[in-house]
Amino acid sequence: MTSNKTLTMIKPGAVNNKHIGAIIDRIERAGFRIVAIKSLKLSKEAAQEFYQEHAERPFFNDLVSFMSSGPIVAAVLYKENAVQDFRKLIGSTDPNDAEEGTIRKDFAESKSKNAVHGSDSDASAERECHFFFSTIDYLEVLK
Ligand code: CMP
Repeated sequence: MTSNKTLTMIKPGAVNNKHIGAIIDRIERAGFRIVAIKSLKLSKEAAQEFYQEHAERPFFNDLVSFMSSGPIVAAVLYKENAVQDFRKLIGSTDPNDAEEGTIRKDFAESKSKNAVHGSDSDASAERECHFFFSTIDYLEVLK
């Protein structure tokens, strides 16, 4: 059974380039309901914790520095088959490989500054939604 919830972050580069509105517009037009949303700045420690599964990767320190370099927007998105459909909407990690019309193709600067994050599995979505939000933040919205 697939869950219908995913977590996105609009990353510091896209926020700095004033793409919040355009990206949210794409997300809503694609049929996702934004059920919880906030703007915040991650500390280095929080970025390390969020991306803990990549701790051994060579790009980890750069990823943490970038993700804590400025404000982000975090949101919980609802839609049937949310994880898969959102990954399709944002495109490949590297914008050079992303399909035309995807969010990363249009807004990413590079593989490391790739505009948005999307959960890669239902288990990740569960963990990542709880990283930023409490279930009570969106329980009533879903009724
Ligand atoms: P994201 O979907 O947020 O999940 C992990 C992030 O690590 C990814 O987007 C990229 O921004 C970054 N990343 C993954 N692979 C590489 C890589 N080879 N070089 C630099 N950054 C990477």
